[in-house]
Amino acid sequence: MRTLVSILGGCVILLLSLVLPAGVMAGPLDAPGSTKAVTCSACHGLGGNSPSDTMPTLAGMSPEYFKKAIQDYASGGRPAAEMEPFAKMVIQLGLDDVAAYFAGQQREPARIAADAAAVARGRAASTQCASCHGPQGKGDPAKGIPDLTGQPPGYLRHQMLLFKAEKRNPADEPLKALKAVMKTIPDGTLADLAAYYSSVK
Ligand code: HEC
Ligand code: HEC
Repeated sequence: MRTLVSILGGCVILLLSLVLPAGVMAGPLDAPGSTKAVTCSACHGLGGNSPSDTMPTLAGMSPEYFKKAIQDYASGGRPAAEMEPFAKMVIQLGLDDVAAYFAGQQREPARIAADAAAVARGRAASTQCASCHGPQGKGDPAKGIPDLTGQPPGYLRHQMLLFKAEKRNPADEPLKALKAVMKTIPDGTLADLAAYYSSVK
């Protein structure tokens, strides 16, 4: 009986090591993506938690959304002078590894405190976003919908204005519905929505 138990135990450990990606069992600095992500921290912060109001947080980002963003920057479909060279670099280094590294980092609450009145107004306005981004703004990885929570408010607001002005992913057909929603919302309300989603933990 005892040998049966130890054989079964051995099988479980073997199975786990086959099923779990290396990054889950190793520490954060051993993950294959961590060395490839060193340059990113200069702007996106250590472990991808943004130090500023304008830089997006990458920690905890779903690999699906991360990979689409990098491919869009590299192709010029999402025009951004700062990101295009780094996106091309990430594709060279290994997109899957870098995406897995940031997905595995713990997202911290936004460091920029949002105004309480703006948060309350944004919460009320957020019902029109819930059908896609979910009731809490956590997104839906399978549909490529990003988690908005904990992103700096300035970054969120700026991206909404880019969508509204057809400057982010101008030729991306599947994003038509999102841009149509943005165009109906006054800029002040977009700032309130940014404050609200940024504040959600
Ligand atoms: C010089 C500063 C800088 C560096 C270095 C940098 N980025 Fe960025 N990154 C930005 C800026 C600015 C944006 C927002 C651009 C925009 O308006 O779309 C951005 C956006 C992104 C986004 C999209 C985030 C979202 O929520 O859609 C991803 C993903 C990203 N960067 C990944 C990386 C990775 C991976 C690296 C390292 C290989 C990196 N960045 C290095 C400045 C930088
Ligand atoms: C029809 C579905 C849909 C609706 C409705 C929608 N979104 Fe989105 N949103 C998306 C998708 C999909 C993306 C990812 C775009 C891409 O692929 O680059 C996105 C991206 C964003 C981004 C960029 C996030 C980042 O990390 O760069 C912000 C900000 C955002 N949405 C805010 C909102 C707000 C606020 C509302 C409500 C007023 C809203 N969205 C309504 C589908 C939607």
